[in-house]
Amino acid sequence: MPSNVIICDGCCCGRVEKGHDKVPIEELKQAWKDSDLEGSDKVKLTISGCLGPCSMHNVSLLKTEQGQIWLGKLSEYEHYQALVDWAVEVSKTDDQVEIPEILLSHRFERNSV
Ligand code: FES
Repeated sequence: MPSNVIICDGCCCGRVEKGHDKVPIEELKQAWKDSDLEGSDKVKLTISGCLGPCSMHNVSLLKTEQGQIWLGKLSEYEHYQALVDWAVEVSKTDDQVEIPEILLSHRFERNSV
C-alpha cells in the first residue's frame, strides 16, 4: 500500500477568511510534479476535506505502513516543503523515513484533540 500525504483543505484549514494561514495546494501539486512524485506508486498526495481536528489548523496526515502521523499548526511554506522532502525520501526507500526536524514540534496525537 502506498504511503499517503493527506493535506486538509476543509472548512477551517487554509481558510484565510477565517484568519487561518493559506494551504499552498497548487504549489504542493506543482512540487509533486517537479519532484517526479506524481506517478509514484510509493507515495501519494491527497487533498482532503475536513480531517476532523480543526482546532489544529492547518492539518496534514501522513499515512504509512507503520501507522499515522498527524501534523498540525502548519503555517509556513517551509512546513509544506518539508512534507515534499519527506515524500521524496519515502519514494526512494522501503525503510521507514523519519519526519523532518522542522515538523517534529507540529506532531500531535489524534486522540488528544
Ligand atoms: S478543516 Fe482541517 S481538520 Fe477540519
